[in-house]
Amino acid sequence: NKGPLLTFKPLTIADATAAGGKTVTISPDYEYQVLIPWGTPINPEAGITPYEGDPVNRPTSEEQEQMVGIGHDGMWFFPSNLPRVLATEARRGRELPSRARRQVLDSRSGMLCVNHEFGTNFHVLGKGQPESLEEVRRSQAAHGVTVVAIAQNWRGKWDVVPSALSRRITANTEVMFSGPVAGSPLLENAVSNPPQGTLNNCGSGPTPWGTFLTCEENFNGYFGSAEESIGGFDALQDKAYARYGFSRFGFNYSWHLFDPRFDLKNGNYANESNRFGWIVEIDPFDHTKKPVKRSALGRFKHEAAAVKELKDGRIAVYMGDDQRGDYCYKYESNVSWRAAIAAGQSPLDDGKLYVARFDEGSNANDGQGTGIWIELTPANEAIANAGLDSQDKVLTYARLAADAVGATPMDRPEWSTIGTDGQVYWTLTNNDRKDDGQGAISEANPIFENTDGYIIETNDTSATAFTWNLFLLARNTRSPGDPETAVDPQDFSFANYQAPSDGGANVFSDPDAAFADPFGRLFIGTDGAQPDGLQDQLVVFDTNTGEYRRLLMGVNSDEITGLAPTPDFGTLFTNTQHPGDGDPKSTNFPAKTDGITIPRDATIVIRRKDGGTVGS
Ligand code: FEO
Ligand code: CA
Ligand code: CA
Ligand code: CA
Repeated sequence: NKGPLLTFKPLTIADATAAGGKTVTISPDYEYQVLIPWGTPINPEAGITPYEGDPVNRPTSEEQEQMVGIGHDGMWFFPSNLPRVLATEARRGRELPSRARRQVLDSRSGMLCVNHEFGTNFHVLGKGQPESLEEVRRSQAAHGVTVVAIAQNWRGKWDVVPSALSRRITANTEVMFSGPVAGSPLLENAVSNPPQGTLNNCGSGPTPWGTFLTCEENFNGYFGSAEESIGGFDALQDKAYARYGFSRFGFNYSWHLFDPRFDLKNGNYANESNRFGWIVEIDPFDHTKKPVKRSALGRFKHEAAAVKELKDGRIAVYMGDDQRGDYCYKYESNVSWRAAIAAGQSPLDDGKLYVARFDEGSNANDGQGTGIWIELTPANEAIANAGLDSQDKVLTYARLAADAVGATPMDRPEWSTIGTDGQVYWTLTNNDRKDDGQGAISEANPIFENTDGYIIETNDTSATAFTWNLFLLARNTRSPGDPETAVDPQDFSFANYQAPSDGGANVFSDPDAAFADPFGRLFIGTDGAQPDGLQDQLVVFDTNTGEYRRLLMGVNSDEITGLAPTPDFGTLFTNTQHPGDGDPKSTNFPAKTDGITIPRDATIVIRRKDGGTVGS
């Protein structure tokens, strides 16, 4: 991989917009195929009819439980021989050199884990409200995670293949808790119902030991109440309900009308909501294992989880909490992951949780500074004084603990990803509501009406200290100057401000999904109104030069998210999420345009036409 990192011809604004937002468009040096759209049976031999977007006949809940869900988001490809390679490495006590590993690991077949973040009732049910428990179950079955075996055929295309390992995890799958909150009364209900389900699975991250971390984001939206008020069982929980955004109608799923688990006023299930908002670990190679909610990583609106191996073999996990004015977090294990795994334990159960404070450093206006990772523990007086006097409370109500110690409000922390030198890139997607008190201006969040987002880079200098700099400020315009910004754009000359030498030909905004490859490229998927009539996009950066190019554009009203390569980097899997927002008049993707067929979330498989490295 010597030479320039970016050689492909960018997808031009003219070529992208010519498609009218009806279909996905891509750089002329690339090709794509659609894989596992919503409704694809996970076992091709099970005899289940695929759902292909018929607006009248929709899958039953039982069928949906055997099909790929909706709202494709974070994902990862686990090569079929990964368990064998990991076992060999464990025997040797070290990893193969990365180049050898890329060659040894199978890039033609494996397990794809895909998050199903959400699907509105209109999209899944064709109506605003469920009218029966069966319809609630169908909605619940469309959520969760798909684990599906896929392989590349002799023509180079990818297919779903039969495997006993393929499974659906839904809002009703039995799960278990691990770490400091497992066994806490905060997770117990008056009825002794076992923990079930995972919800609003947004971003993700793979672990070095071959598992998938899926992140529960807007879990609050699935709970509701027939009554005006919610809660009323516990004062601390009521405070947390407000802080986590629970409300009577939630996001209008109305599951609570037929399923008492999601009823915020049902005393039998008073703590059910505490069971969501966690990072969940899934073993793609053991379909008998329950998903495990790793409570040591805290409870908030988890976007993604970027796992870094530290020099001493311990791990750090970098995690955003996606809400206007919320925080960046880090978990560090107390022991090396190899030692923990060899002892049959998890490095995710024993460690410290920190929240980030971004300070100005020596110059208050140079777009860089220092920072402190503040440990969240009841030993901190400010935390104990907030009523969080034990670690199970600190972790379950992590937002309240972080509020108490002066963490820095950020402009919606979305994905995090680890660069080639161990630096962390965080996408901060946007926040134009500081005037409502949602978030605050600071050197790290320098734009008051931040409609377009930015990317910040952090580098840990110790467990509790870091440096940071603004890597990129995105703008929803190609013209210099922007009346909405409170600060003159010229003040941001230190960052990769979007007035590049290409005249704005590759312009984008609202960075969300992020993946840094081991060669210095940074892939960014966007989610928000794009400039110049563009839909949401996939762009690739050369992090050494700051240059970036448009690789792909999605369809009307979708977002581009989930970024998973094969080990040889010959293939990249990404997703179109909520295409057309479910409206067949907007797009019928992946079906041909007919104005009738319901658009479906799908994985987009990207390859270079010449077989070269994806992103190059
Ligand atoms: Fe699920 Fe914050 O995106
Ligand atoms: Ca500074
Ligand atoms: Ca996101
Ligand atoms: Ca987003």
